Amino acid sequence: MQVKVQPIQEEAVCASSVQLQGSNNVLHSAGAGTRRPRLRFPSGCGNRKELQEQHKAAWENCDSYRWVKFLLCSDDVRLVFDRFPPAGSNTGIGKTTAIELAKRGARVILACRSKQRGEAALQDVKRESGSNQVVFMQLDLASLKSVRSFAENFLKTEPRLDILVNNAGVLLIGRTEDGFGLMFGVNHLGHFLLTNLLLDRLKECGPSRVVNVSSAAHNWGRVDFDCLNTHRDLRVGTTGLDCFGIYGDSKLCNALFTHELAKRLKGTKVTCYSLHPGSILTELQRNQSTTVQLILKNIERFFFKTPLQGSQTTLHCALQEGIEHLSGGYFSNCTAKNVYAKARDDAASKKLWEISERFCGI
Ligand SMILES: NC(=O)c1ccc[n+]([C@@H]2O[C@H](COP(=O)([O-])OP(=O)(O)OC[C@H]3O[C@@H](n4cnc5c(N)ncnc54)[C@H](OP(=O)(O)O)[C@@H]3O)[C@@H](O)[C@H]2O)c1
Repeated sequence: MQVKVQPIQEEAVCASSVQLQGSNNVLHSAGAGTRRPRLRFPSGCGNRKELQEQHKAAWENCDSYRWVKFLLCSDDVRLVFDRFPPAGSNTGIGKTTAIELAKRGARVILACRSKQRGEAALQDVKRESGSNQVVFMQLDLASLKSVRSFAENFLKTEPRLDILVNNAGVLLIGRTEDGFGLMFGVNHLGHFLLTNLLLDRLKECGPSRVVNVSSAAHNWGRVDFDCLNTHRDLRVGTTGLDCFGIYGDSKLCNALFTHELAKRLKGTKVTCYSLHPGSILTELQRNQSTTVQLILKNIERFFFKTPLQGSQTTLHCALQEGIEHLSGGYFSNCTAKNVYAKARDDAASKKLWEISERFCGI
């Protein structure tokens, strides 16, 4: 485990408000070691149940996950598929990630756009994790003003940030408050600004990590810089196909952002990763037409994985020790994967960074 180095007693003196609570019994286990055991993930994570049990057992016998003090999980949370609840969980990837990290002793900040759903999620995460170290803060990634005000509030009130999980995503054509294409604005630009505003805190708290939830959909994506300059969007179009196209483009932006961020973070103790969570039963399709939703939901019921399974690669990128040399890389099934040249294109990632800086005014 790489994300925090102070012993818990020191933390109590210098920042008692963030001390992990002894009541969270997963923190304590007789004969616990001082380092997190290195987990060997079988290639492709074949037996996921076994993997999860192995993961849980290893963490429960490890002191070092006490050191995860802050996770920022930029995601909103809601109940999904109440008609077809997936085993063990009926919520999205972000919420499950938050629960899993809170169970392991992290102080988790749920950054959600809806106060009502965020507060409901807060109660769920607290109850399911057994932790009181969970906080809700409002964040609308479709508004650069909201991102700035969230970052200001966060930096004022939270002394540490060890892991930033940029998980939120949307599959919908529209415009952000600032006039950017919705998927470009939410799936990339909001996360870009948020990460940059929190970067100094991440550096102060190093070793620390940024985890960007991308998608295998980045494989069909492209970044049209002319379109970005003229239309402040990745493509022009309003059909269902355009929607999936722009979604893929925005997910390619996640991979390129991670690639460039890793280069800019060289020499610091901050590392970053992008990932595909798998095909997961969530509400991502909620804005599609009824017909598309009906088709997808029926396919998903049989072939898609649960949010708990969907959170495994995020947890791997957030917590697995020994992957620092893979900073900037892309993961799937808890394994580093090769990506097409377009997802590690130096010139495109630099250009995307520069245009994003200009759009965000930083
Ligand atoms: N599910 C899959 O099969 C799959 C596959 C590949 C990649 N992914 C990626 O995984 C991530 C999580 O998606 P999911 O599948 O868990 O979908 P989800 O259940 O729809 O979760 C997406 C979350 O993002 C939040 N969000 C959307 N717009 C936001 C905004 N403007 N500000 C703040 N939060 C906002 C949503 O909040 P609201 O409830 O307020 O809308 C929602 O809670 C996404 O980045 C997605 O692209 C998912």
